[in-house]
Amino acid sequence: MKLRTIENLDVRGKFVLLRDDFNVQIVDGKITDPFRIDQSMPTINALRAGGAKIAICAHLGRPKGARNMEFSLRPVAEYMGVPLIADCLDKEFMATMHDGDVVLLENVRFYAGEEKNDPAFAADLARGFDIFVNDAFAVSHRAHASTVGVAEILPAYAGKLLASEIENLSAVMEHPARPLTAIVAGSKVSTKIGVLKALAKLADNLIIGGALGTTFNYACGAHVGNSLYEPDQRDTALEILAFARDNDCNVLLPLDKGVAPEFAPNAPRTDKTFDEITDTDIILDDGAKTSANDIETIEKSATVIWNGSVGMAEWQPTWSVGTFALARAIAEQTRAGKLTSVIGGGDTVAALDACGVKGDMTYVSTGGGAFLEFIEGRTLPGIAILEQK
Ligand code: 3PG
Repeated sequence: MKLRTIENLDVRGKFVLLRDDFNVQIVDGKITDPFRIDQSMPTINALRAGGAKIAICAHLGRPKGARNMEFSLRPVAEYMGVPLIADCLDKEFMATMHDGDVVLLENVRFYAGEEKNDPAFAADLARGFDIFVNDAFAVSHRAHASTVGVAEILPAYAGKLLASEIENLSAVMEHPARPLTAIVAGSKVSTKIGVLKALAKLADNLIIGGALGTTFNYACGAHVGNSLYEPDQRDTALEILAFARDNDCNVLLPLDKGVAPEFAPNAPRTDKTFDEITDTDIILDDGAKTSANDIETIEKSATVIWNGSVGMAEWQPTWSVGTFALARAIAEQTRAGKLTSVIGGGDTVAALDACGVKGDMTYVSTGGGAFLEFIEGRTLPGIAILEQK
């Protein structure tokens, strides 16, 4: 995939509409993890240094086309130290902009035309700009006005983060060092069927953990108590296991689980094998035997791709044990130069942060849904439109 990029692009004095993904978690007006914003800075700095006048367009949450200030990007503007333009279609600010200036436009999803990719809305958004730059890898799986619509109107280029995401994710998909181990966890089989199949085809080992793993254990006849799992995905799980077998992919399912009598962060933990799990037990994490088994495979791997935490990792310290054990093992192998590690997905990246190993990984993607779709081999509309013809 060859994209038009901002490398050697003359932006001096030009109005640049820059799409970033600043969809970050905000609690009590404070950004809990600015990773996506920080990763966007190289493009912003390059455009500033080149003398562009930059208006950043972004979304926050799902305000459903209404101007709901709960989803205001003000905390992001404050974090970045740039002015917030209260309406993303306002053009008045342009009159007083100088080369190198940056503003942030208020949440583009305050307009229903954004998610509908309404051509009239895209034209309004693009009006007054000379160039469009998409650096929002994490929302490029959405064919919205600010990802696709404006790219059909303005000369459109990929920013540095977008280009780096594609380069790093393509490298691991196209020529991974082997053995390649994929870890897929999280809660729902239904949202991960595509990525499970893609990785079963590509990887040498596939570790399926978390509540997702519980559904696979259930499909194989294990007793899973009063836990979160998807009984209606039994056949899909069996089909994926058969698909992996046909593709010579070794699947590792959980061997034991951390269980609790109630669904609560401070509930007491007992690790049990499936024949020990009772009807009232609730699975909240992968167990110690599972972690040891997974880590043995990780230590023999040359590449790891990981999406999804294997337990309630945000309920620290009791229920983050399984996820942190994998994170630390992957970090250790990566630091030792024995492993290429590529991680994606909001909860997984938050877990890396919480146990202090994010900086040790080879590549951490800003994408959640976009990461999964890219790994699955799907065409991301926001990226396809930037391809060189
Ligand atoms: C994300 O957080 O994964 C992206 O910003 C996309 O958000 P969406 O799922 O609300 O489109």
